[in-house]
Amino acid sequence: MIGNQLLHGGDYNPEQWLEHPEILEEDIAWMKQAGINCVTLGVFSWSMLEPEEGVYDFGWLEERINQLYENGIRVVLATPSGAMPHWMTAKYPEVMQVQADGKRNLPGRRHNFCYTSPVYRTKVREMDLELSKRFGRHKAVLLWHISNELGGNFSDGACYCEQCQQAFRGWLKQKYKTLDALNHAWWNRFWSHVYTDWGQVHAPAPHGEGVVHGLNLDWRRFVSDQMADFCQAEAEALRTYATLPVTTNFMEFFKPLDYHRLHKCLDVVSWDNYPDWHKNRDEVPVAVRSAAGHSLMRSLKKQPFLLMESTPSSVNWRPQNPLKRPGMHMLSSMQAIAHGSDSVQYFQWRKGRGGFEKFHGAVIDHKNGAGTRTFRDVMQVGDRLPAIEPWVKDTQNRPKAAFIFDWENWWALEDAAGPNHELDYVEEVLRHYQAFWEQGIDVDFISMEERLDGYALVCAPYNYLYRAGYADRVRAFVQNGGCYVTTCFSGVVDDTDLCFTGHHPLEDVLGVIPEEEDVPGDGFANSFVFDGVSYPVGRLREICHVKAPAKPLAVYSQDFYAGCPVVVQNRYGAGVSYYLAADTGIEFLRSFYSGVWKKTGLCNPFGLRLPYGVTTAVRNGKQDVVFAMNFSHDPAYLDGIGNWQDVDTMELYEGAVQLDGLSCKILIKQP
Ligand code: GLA
Ligand code: ZN
Repeated sequence: MIGNQLLHGGDYNPEQWLEHPEILEEDIAWMKQAGINCVTLGVFSWSMLEPEEGVYDFGWLEERINQLYENGIRVVLATPSGAMPHWMTAKYPEVMQVQADGKRNLPGRRHNFCYTSPVYRTKVREMDLELSKRFGRHKAVLLWHISNELGGNFSDGACYCEQCQQAFRGWLKQKYKTLDALNHAWWNRFWSHVYTDWGQVHAPAPHGEGVVHGLNLDWRRFVSDQMADFCQAEAEALRTYATLPVTTNFMEFFKPLDYHRLHKCLDVVSWDNYPDWHKNRDEVPVAVRSAAGHSLMRSLKKQPFLLMESTPSSVNWRPQNPLKRPGMHMLSSMQAIAHGSDSVQYFQWRKGRGGFEKFHGAVIDHKNGAGTRTFRDVMQVGDRLPAIEPWVKDTQNRPKAAFIFDWENWWALEDAAGPNHELDYVEEVLRHYQAFWEQGIDVDFISMEERLDGYALVCAPYNYLYRAGYADRVRAFVQNGGCYVTTCFSGVVDDTDLCFTGHHPLEDVLGVIPEEEDVPGDGFANSFVFDGVSYPVGRLREICHVKAPAKPLAVYSQDFYAGCPVVVQNRYGAGVSYYLAADTGIEFLRSFYSGVWKKTGLCNPFGLRLPYGVTTAVRNGKQDVVFAMNFSHDPAYLDGIGNWQDVDTMELYEGAVQLDGLSCKILIKQP
């Protein structure tokens, strides 16, 4: 645990208030009242830390850090590289990003930097060394926070300047060694795209090349690697004078950057979570996505992570910004802890008077000080975190099921120009995961490169691209008794986006021979009967054949492929696989997975069918800590659950418990 405690804090920008010592005093008093034990300083503070090139002014920061520390508040210290001061962009225009259309950005905004530019890297390094020297051993500082939301704001996280293009070509040379290999991997004889010189390679662009799938895929890999390299360089500079851990704040399912690559230079994963609560009264889809985001972040290192930012009330950047309903702030904060966070932190402590985020929710509003509903909500979280800390300490979520969630697959799948151009990887993964969430079964989200053993069940929806060695690992996993579920449009291309020929790489394990994909328009409804119930199929329908000894569990009812399998089961070695040949809906997935869970011994800690809106997550330890969460606005009653003790109130529940609407109980099993 960072700082040996559950952190409760958030982004704090005292540099906006330096002329108001009374406000800075007030901040500390109110932080203590709200149970804030840690704040994040320095995000976007460059112009105040280095007002002129080479002239550092750290005095104000040190004074703040000292004062916070004297009051028992620790610090996450950020590097300011997320936004550049005007003196820098004026003097060194090359530090600003170039867009895919070749236009260089103007100064301003944030996340506007070229992560290849040697000048920018030097400036960042000089700053980071100064910070490391000055604050790396300060007792208040717990953690370095590199930059901010890397890749955010502009053009797909990438810079397209000539220096980045050069770096890309160098990256390709290292990977392919010869142009011949690259031409082959990208299938460049198609449309006469054969390169004869490395200098001819250009990043994908709207007014240029954009339809060479191998190029698109490698460009995205390069962008992630280059960003990871930028982040690594910051981490190294920070570690020069200090041994503090390092993080950067991620953004859930952020397509431009492969977090499986990026997290490697970090000691702790952290992320910013802004769920779309109250978009509808049915909060389940939002809760599902938020839970998946937490579990994805936890899965990157298979360790507790930090919730670096969340809003205590509302955001300001959606067209409409609802307030968190009573109960939701506590519930969404506990959801983070339930899925493995060791913190609840906010953007932001205090609303600024100006700027784009002056109406973004904050613990302290422009008016009314600590006398607000939001402040009381935050205070309650501040009371609860230390109370549950002894139970949560030294625990870790260790789910028995995993989903393959792989950025390379995401990029390739949605670029495939295949039978259906509207495939949405995250949506499909979440559709399957929703069935798990609804029954309180947490999962890890892992890349194709990770170990599968240790899981009882691995699900891989739309697993279009197979990375090298993946099929063999799945084969061994099932051989050794694992259960593997996958869907149509899986195992189609290799990791350079070239189609497999001959056979499906997992034909033996899955027991299917996929033949054609159909995406008919309206009026071609189709369905299948599973376990006595008829379900509609979605848009994408694969026609495949069963290979003995595999068994079809359901077949299409209509069209010229009536009788062809939709659900196939195959025993392989000591394990079993399931293949879903068509898009299916949540109703089917609920029924299908409940059978799979029975066979694999998965269930929620209550061993009960949970009512809609209720879910559980478990932090495993000497004593498992069970979070029972109700995302419905109405109370839920769980009966037949055995005996549990409430960690907050010490109350004993014998056999049954009531969960209020939008609430969470934290429970320990009793004999
Ligand atoms: C992100 C950023 C913050 C702030 C919030 C607003 O998470 O990191 O600086 O802009 O969004 O929601
Ligand atoms: Zn660049």
